[in-house]
Amino acid sequence: MKKALAILLALTMVFALAACSKGGDSDEVQVGIVLPTKEEPRWLQDEASFEAALSDAGFTSEVLFSQGSSATELSNVEALLEKNIKVLVICAQDAAAAGAAVQKAKEAGVTVVCYDRLITNTDAVDYYITFNSFAVGVAQGQYLIDAYAGKTGVPLYLYSGAVTDNNAFIFFAGAWSVLSQAVADGQFVVENCPAIEGKGVMDADADHEALSDILGTITTNWDFATAKTLAEGNLVAADASAKGDVAILAPNDGTARAIADAFTADSAVTSYVITGQDAENASLKYIQDGKQSMTVWKNTATLAETTCGLVADLLNDKTPATDATYNNQTKDVPSVEQAVTVITAENLPDLISAGNFSQSEIDAAQ
Ligand code: BGC
Repeated sequence: MKKALAILLALTMVFALAACSKGGDSDEVQVGIVLPTKEEPRWLQDEASFEAALSDAGFTSEVLFSQGSSATELSNVEALLEKNIKVLVICAQDAAAAGAAVQKAKEAGVTVVCYDRLITNTDAVDYYITFNSFAVGVAQGQYLIDAYAGKTGVPLYLYSGAVTDNNAFIFFAGAWSVLSQAVADGQFVVENCPAIEGKGVMDADADHEALSDILGTITTNWDFATAKTLAEGNLVAADASAKGDVAILAPNDGTARAIADAFTADSAVTSYVITGQDAENASLKYIQDGKQSMTVWKNTATLAETTCGLVADLLNDKTPATDATYNNQTKDVPSVEQAVTVITAENLPDLISAGNFSQSEIDAAQ
């Protein structure tokens, strides 16, 4: 009798697990995942990485996209709360606006995990899983410094991400923590950001307030068209001495390609060195074609796996391990931080041979 019961129990568990791994089939979902938009390749990388990690995670889940809208983000969270989620993994569209959505989740007893972007000014966040965004900025800034080692007076053009994204501040703070010294030393002359003049060498932990005046004038809003228009405007305003061989701090790959196109179109620009981030296939192609100088690869496969591990701990009532804290202006949020890798034309072939990227996908990228 006991044995029969044990077999029955085991069978029930197998069926329960099978139902789980299908994810989203039943009305009950344990984990809701909300990502910002399908319009940028970066977030499609995360979706694919989550699909791979979730297929062996053993819990039910559903991924929804906010399509660039905080209102859609809120209704996505509400829809997931209706399905009784236990954990919400959210990459916010807008760091401050998302506070309302996570507050609702908290009130419903849900554990809130910020994914990649920290939600600010709320105590309704429990964990943060992120790449080391400061290191991303440092890598970008240092790349420009190394590329123009020994030169002076190199024109430098600065661009940032969206001011609604906490990461944009961290990326810029990282880059500026090294570039501001190089500007003070005379290696670079900033050509498109009067707000930065007289600010001197910037502290590594420069806060939002100190940076928001600067970011406000150089923001691409993470939008390719905005980035291109901004760069074109900067080039129209710049005289010949601000052209020639130039350095460009571009915050991510999509904006880097747009800005690179604008600089390519200006015949007074002899050459440029431009940064990026995300290792999008289209930018790996730009790197192979000599149109983008570097990108910072943030391996979303490991970030999604880490997230699934943390979620599994939460569902099993275990306290997840964390290795950092990030302050969201209301609280210190226990965080897990992952390292990043610089990709250039030199190491890209090895990464392709190792199977991290595929040449045919790079060739096919738009
Ligand atoms: C992410 C970047 C991304 C950018 C634009 C940032 O929060 O960390 O990887 O390129 O948003 O979507």
